[in-house]
Amino acid sequence: MQITVVGSGYVGLVAASCLAELGHQVVCVDNDDRKIAVLQAGQVPIHEEYLADLLARHGGKNIRFSTSLTDSARNAQAVFIAVGTPQGDEGDADLSYVESVAQELASAVNGFMVIVEKSTVPVFTHDWIRKIMHINGAPADSFEVASNPEFLREGTAVRDFLYPDRIVIGVDSERAAAILREIYRPLTDGSYYERPDHIPERLGAPRPVPLIQTSAKSAELIKHASNAFLAMKISFINAVANICEAVGADVRQVCEGIGSDERIGRRFLNPGIGYGGSCFPKDLSAFSAVAHECGYEFRLLDEVMRINEEQRVRFLRKVKKALWTLRGKKLAVLGLAFKGGTDDIRESPAIALIRMLLKEGCEIRAYDPAAMERAREVLGAERITYADSPYEAANKADALLLLTDWPEFAKLDLRRLRTILAYPIVVDGRNLFDPATMAEHGFQYYSVGRPDVQVPARKAAVDP
Ligand code: UGA
Repeated sequence: MQITVVGSGYVGLVAASCLAELGHQVVCVDNDDRKIAVLQAGQVPIHEEYLADLLARHGGKNIRFSTSLTDSARNAQAVFIAVGTPQGDEGDADLSYVESVAQELASAVNGFMVIVEKSTVPVFTHDWIRKIMHINGAPADSFEVASNPEFLREGTAVRDFLYPDRIVIGVDSERAAAILREIYRPLTDGSYYERPDHIPERLGAPRPVPLIQTSAKSAELIKHASNAFLAMKISFINAVANICEAVGADVRQVCEGIGSDERIGRRFLNPGIGYGGSCFPKDLSAFSAVAHECGYEFRLLDEVMRINEEQRVRFLRKVKKALWTLRGKKLAVLGLAFKGGTDDIRESPAIALIRMLLKEGCEIRAYDPAAMERAREVLGAERITYADSPYEAANKADALLLLTDWPEFAKLDLRRLRTILAYPIVVDGRNLFDPATMAEHGFQYYSVGRPDVQVPARKAAVDP
């Protein structure tokens, strides 16, 4: 199939590369000349596992990059819209980029194409795209608008795309359904997985991949409702963690107890400093705005967002509890990205907390395996420096703060940390360590939803 993907952000670039991997001829279009030049030069602008492999494999062959939407869409059977839908002033999604794409596409229609919403958009967006196409001169029988929401997570995006839990196609005609089914056939008939060079499998992915066909409206709602539900799980467990702290219970045990009920499930029940990223905060707010517009006040979503905000403030309080006064304290901060496995710092709770700590007068030495460059752009250099390793960050610091769940942080050498920190104080916003182990190593350890570990703060208390 000839496919155009509009937008070369996380979703667009991953979708374009994976569609090329499935054997389609893909052109990825962006109006950002610089970004396209980088991609044409064979560089990969984002940190995402397997993305570089796919681009090296298909660059210049199954996938090409262009700044001209009209040229690349002229022969396309499907055009995937994966442009940004940032949060507007009222919390609703700003759909102006989607509208410009539709305006431009109207003049590119040549034969029949299906226009596929890949970006997360409010219900009824497909109707608007259709209207915009019409008033800009596209004949009614020359296109269809479909919704094909993406459920990939940053950090594991390529494998999430190629090994999905499900594929949802929201279509209002059999003609559009047939094109989308054909695009995903290598995944639904399993032929992709027979290939000797397939990208390594994602553990627990269903086979065959279920394809769920719905109306376009339902598919748009599926995407918002999925993200809202996942965010609700996180806020729910954060609220439970807060009760655990109040009564001295252990949230890990509570999670094990409730998560083993299949109806609840263990995943997305990790408490911490709240969710961040380019999706949950924006989508929750947009979904709440959509509900309001439809005449329904979805107050549950407002509460999910409130708990999430509060979680950061509670963490700041925890740091104060561990350190008493903050002015002039030297803090090692591990983690800047909104979660492990990515260099993305958009709506990162780690960045928000660092801003709060700087405001309190702390001096920060930060380390992140992938997100330091981006963080430097937004945090600057006043009272914050960046280290080359977690140990360099921790050296002579008054306390160590863990703000992102990078797997390598959980493997840090605790004995070494204990000797290089000025005081053996660790405040863990991601529950990366076992409190008993931290106690054995002589740390004062504060985490989320678990009893604090308080040991005398004398240096080398348990060192042999
Ligand atoms: C999320 C969804 O998980 C994807 O299914 C969806 O496709 C994507 O949004 C999107 O709409 O594009 P993503 O934002 O990449 O994916 O990251 P998640 O893994 O969902 O994590 C989001 C935030 O929740 C992170 O800050 C993470 O640290 C936090 N989180 C996650 C928790 O605090 N606890 C958990 O148990 C899980």
